[in-house]
Amino acid sequence: MTVVNFVQGDTRVYGLIGNPIAHTLSPLIHNSLNKILGNNAVYVPFEVFSQGLKAALEGAYELNIQGLNVTYPYKEAVIPHLIDMDAYGKQIGAVNTLKKSEGGYVGYNTDACGLLMSLKEEQIQIENHNILIIGAGGAAKAAAMALSSQKAKKIYIANRTEKRAEDLAKAVQQYYSLPIEVLPLSDIHLLNDVDICLQTTSLGMHPQEGQSPVNDDSFFNKITVAVDIIYNPWESLFLKQAKKAGCKTVNGFGMLFYQAVKAYEIWIGQEISKDKIASLYQSLKKKLKENKDWKEGFS
Ligand code: ATR
Repeated sequence: MTVVNFVQGDTRVYGLIGNPIAHTLSPLIHNSLNKILGNNAVYVPFEVFSQGLKAALEGAYELNIQGLNVTYPYKEAVIPHLIDMDAYGKQIGAVNTLKKSEGGYVGYNTDACGLLMSLKEEQIQIENHNILIIGAGGAAKAAAMALSSQKAKKIYIANRTEKRAEDLAKAVQQYYSLPIEVLPLSDIHLLNDVDICLQTTSLGMHPQEGQSPVNDDSFFNKITVAVDIIYNPWESLFLKQAKKAGCKTVNGFGMLFYQAVKAYEIWIGQEISKDKIASLYQSLKKKLKENKDWKEGFS
């Protein structure tokens, strides 16, 4: 019989709260970081039901859980239970990372940083470029605030429900002064000055792999970079269309990975070496691209 012990009496505990969480990739990323950095810590997913959210946070605090990620559907619902929030959290009105502090948890939004770090990794310039965001939900809001903070020249927002796009534009303009134009999804092929298109809807996500918010393939002839927040499938139909037209394409794995790195850095209070991050990024990317089993394994 083999005797194993991954956890000691002084192991620090971190986790994820959300529902559903069975298919999450976050433990893979965070426990890999624990291992490569030699940190005596463990990251555990916790399925939480909405009526128990407050009790879960109070319990986590009393159990000395040092940090939590927050995923669907609680990124907004946790806010009343926090003692403070970072700037992106306040702008976006949603947080995905909590850090234990004296008197409660402080909330952060690392989705915005994750997107920017992923674009930087792919050498995609934001400053002075025109960007089209497709979608106007929570992911679009994080993206719009992040891109505006990096001095994008102009942002277009196209959404099926135009009212939501207008509300998002107003929310961004409370913080940033760049021009923002809203248009119906059906009109994006009329735009002639878009450099980067960022797809933030769930259209095309497993198991609806045959869908894309862009019907007219000729749209992609007029842009240079296409970014999708989807990473399952690894290449969405939107990215396939873009690639066919010769665009540079980026999927959502980088954003997922870097939001986790940023959360980890907040928790440990220091930056992780760039070399270690780059090598983990490449290993995980290879594993996920090659491993056919993960398709059913997470969302
Ligand atoms: P999230 O927080 O993950 O962004 P959300 O707030 O539900 O999720 O937003 C989902 C986005 O996908 C919205 O922009 C939504 O468009 P609507 O505002 O019109 O609902 C978009 N979306 C979802 N299904 C869609 C579909 N079949 N066609 C076009 N857009 C769709």
